[in-house]
Amino acid sequence: MLRRNMSDLSSVSIPPPPPSWRHVGRHGVFPAAGHDDTARFDFLANLNSLLASEVLPRVRDAYERRAVPAYTEAHGHPPRDRREAHEALKGERLWQTFSALRRCSMEMRQQTGRTLVLKQLPELIAKAHAYNEGASTLKLDPTIEQPRYASAVDIHCMPGGYHAELVPDDVSAGANYDSGLFATTAGMLGRFSDGGGRAVAAWLKREYPDFRPRRILDVGCTIGHNVVPLAQAFPEAEVIAVDTAAPVLRYGHARARSLGVHNLTFMQANAEALPFPDQYFDLVTSAMFWHETSAKALPRILKEIGRVLAPGGLTLHLEQPQYTPEMPLFEQAMRDWDAYYNNEPFWSVMHELDLKRMLLEAGFRGEDYFETTIRALVDRELFPEAGQGQEDYGRTPMWIAFGAWKRG
Ligand SMILES: C[S@@+](CC[C@H](N)C(=O)[O-])C[C@H]1O[C@@H](n2cnc3c(N)ncnc32)[C@H](O)[C@@H]1O
Repeated sequence: MLRRNMSDLSSVSIPPPPPSWRHVGRHGVFPAAGHDDTARFDFLANLNSLLASEVLPRVRDAYERRAVPAYTEAHGHPPRDRREAHEALKGERLWQTFSALRRCSMEMRQQTGRTLVLKQLPELIAKAHAYNEGASTLKLDPTIEQPRYASAVDIHCMPGGYHAELVPDDVSAGANYDSGLFATTAGMLGRFSDGGGRAVAAWLKREYPDFRPRRILDVGCTIGHNVVPLAQAFPEAEVIAVDTAAPVLRYGHARARSLGVHNLTFMQANAEALPFPDQYFDLVTSAMFWHETSAKALPRILKEIGRVLAPGGLTLHLEQPQYTPEMPLFEQAMRDWDAYYNNEPFWSVMHELDLKRMLLEAGFRGEDYFETTIRALVDRELFPEAGQGQEDYGRTPMWIAFGAWKRG
């Protein structure tokens, strides 16, 4: 199926291979890796790249040439929305192959990360402990319960999600998340997988040079990939990052400390009930967070953000693009893949919400709402080729940033 005939070959431009995992950014708590670990991650990155650049265009072709006509004949009309486009694709052998391989790559990514991390877990815990012990900037609260939407399934096939504790003081979920992201994103988020946060910080400095937040909150921070650049960009600010899951907070705190970041507190808290006074923060952010919440939680969290934001403050969120009537149905169906096959149950519903309306319902004003496009800032010296890969509807480093200022 993947074999090309000679006439095909002349017209194909082969994208550069993704950077090797050996370039991943290392810090004081990053897992030690040998040849075989690197080879497994490199295999994954290349498999994903192959799927995006070689297989996906053929799936699109098969959708147009075979799946849509077959669906139209069976239903009397072509697919009218992304769910019908998904139905049309399901009968297509090429799509089944693509989907099975992509699911395998997700499972492999988790097993590769866990193999790396679990064989050195006592050492990783000791390393994290050395940074975390006695630090007032790590605040864990064992009474915090995991929301059902975060624990009912293994989110994106990650065994135990973000919160499972295999042993006391566990950091394995954080170390696994950190080590695999560079491979699944093919290095396009930069060595430290922080291209989103770096891009947000640069955007804020460029668009609002006089904005000097004194207190910053990041909700659903995981290990802090995208809040560390904000803490670095605003060194005078007090920055607090909250998450419900202790293993990622322990790891994230140690990671930030080892990167020399000291104005950032990691706190175990539920964003649906933020433990802060009204009007406490000047900036409230999130990155790739909303699609992992729920239809009930999302408006509650936005209300909480409105409450803790000071007048004149800004709330700003990075997410994958929303579905719009202008987005081709094939692209919508492919972006929806994660909802069906990668344990992202809220993905599909979240990406059709009217975000502006959600913010209005949380108390913000329509004229203060904005949306813009943010592209990850990548380490160009190390990865001149990064970011020029093929669109794969979900893993390219292009997001919408949406949010609102709060009136003074
Ligand atoms: C996709 S990850 C976010 C990635 C992260 N923001 C980054 O920049 O890399 C979603 C995170 O949200 C956390 N989470 C989910 N529901 C939450 C809630 N109600 N309050 C706080 N954190 C939550 C999860 O534990 C998980 O770590």
